[in-house]
Amino acid sequence: MKFSTKVQIPQSATVTINSIAQQKKLAGERIFNLSAGEPMMNTARYLEKAVQDAMQSGKTLYPPVAGLPELRKKASDWMNTNYQTSYSPQNTLITCGGKFGIYLSLQALLNDEDEVIIIAPYWVSYPSMVSLFGGKPMIVTTKEQDQWKVRPDDIRNICTEKTKMLILNNASNPTGVLYTKDELMLILEVAKEKNLIVLSDEVYSGLTYDDKTYTSCASIEKNSDNLIVIQSCSKNFGMTGWRVGFVFASENFIKMLTKIQGQSITGTSIISQYAAIAALEQSEIITHEIHKEMESRRDFFSSTFNKVFHTNIPQPQSSLYHFIPLSAFGIQNSDDITFCEQVLTNGNVALVPGSAFGCAGYIRTSFGANKNELKESIEALASHLQFSA
Ligand SMILES: Cc1ncc(COP(=O)(O)O)c(C=O)c1O
Repeated sequence: MKFSTKVQIPQSATVTINSIAQQKKLAGERIFNLSAGEPMMNTARYLEKAVQDAMQSGKTLYPPVAGLPELRKKASDWMNTNYQTSYSPQNTLITCGGKFGIYLSLQALLNDEDEVIIIAPYWVSYPSMVSLFGGKPMIVTTKEQDQWKVRPDDIRNICTEKTKMLILNNASNPTGVLYTKDELMLILEVAKEKNLIVLSDEVYSGLTYDDKTYTSCASIEKNSDNLIVIQSCSKNFGMTGWRVGFVFASENFIKMLTKIQGQSITGTSIISQYAAIAALEQSEIITHEIHKEMESRRDFFSSTFNKVFHTNIPQPQSSLYHFIPLSAFGIQNSDDITFCEQVLTNGNVALVPGSAFGCAGYIRTSFGANKNELKESIEALASHLQFSA
C-alpha cells in the first residue's frame, strides 16, 4: 500500500518510549518510568458522582459537536477568571484533549509550504503535526544559558513571506520555561509586525512554581483574530485519560473547527465532558492539590537527583519536567538517543532523549509520578550508571 507523502512522519518519541516500557512491563519486568507526561494523582474521585449521574440518567448519546453548552460556558468562565481573558462560550470549542485542538487548528490553517515557527526545544508533536498538513516547520533554537527563552529578534529574523504561524508554548514541555508578561508582549509585537497567527499552547498554565504567576497571551491580545489558545483538563486537573481539551479563539475560527470536528471525531466522549464540568466546578481545589503536590515532587526530584549524581540541575519554573544535559552524568558525547535506549533496555529506566524535542545532548525526566517511584527510579538509574550517593 502506498501511503500519502504527508504521513511520512516519525512516531512520537514519548509514545515510543512508553510503549517499549509497556511491553517490558507486560513481560513481567519492573519499569522505572520517568518518561510519562502526566501528573499522576487520583483526581477521579472528584468526578465520580457527576459521571455516575450522567450515565444513570442516560446522557450517553452523541454530544453537540462543539461540546456541551454548559461545558463551553464553564470553560470560558474558568479561563476568564483565572487568566484575565474575555472569551464567550462561542469562542470555545471542546475537543479530544489539547492535542486534537492543535491538530484541528493546523488543519484549518495550513496550505502546502506554509511556514510555521516552532521554538526548540519543542513539544514532540508540533513539527510532525505541521508536516502532516503540508506545512514547513521553521525551528528557532534556544539555549540553556538563556534559560531556554526565545529572543524576539530570532523570531523576526527567521520570517519569510511564507511564514504564517508561530507556535508558542508558555510553561513549556520539555524545559519548563515560563515567560513574563513583558517578554510575551515583545514576542506578540513581533508576531503582529510579521502578521503571524499565534497558536499559544497553555496546557501547563496551572503548573507554575515558586509563586510565579501565569500570563495567558489572550490577556494581552484580547479578542484578536490572530490568536488561538489551547487549553486542557489533562495537566491542570490531572485528567489525561479523560481526553478533554479546549480551543479558545475567534467565533469564526471556532465555527470552522467545529465543521472539521463534525466531519472527523464528532466530539470527545460525552461522559468525559460531564467529568470536565465537575472538574471545572471544583477547579480551585483540584488545581491547588495538584499544584502543591507537583511543586513538592519537583523539589524532591531535584534534591534526590543532585545528591545521587553529585550535580546541580536547574529547577524548572513550570510544567512537569527536568531537561538535563548528559554532562550531569559525566557523559561528554551528545548521543542522547543511544543513552536512553541503553538505559531502558539494560537498566529498565524510561527517559526521553532530548533529540525528540529538537535538542541533542539532553534527556527529559518527568516528576509526575509519586515520590517513592521517583526515588526508586533515580536509584535504578544511578545503579545502572554505577553512581553511588
Ligand atoms: C506542550 C503540550 N501541549 C499539548 C499537550 C496535549 O495534552 P492533552 O492532549 O492531553 O490535552 C501536551 C501533552 O503532553 C503537551 O505536553
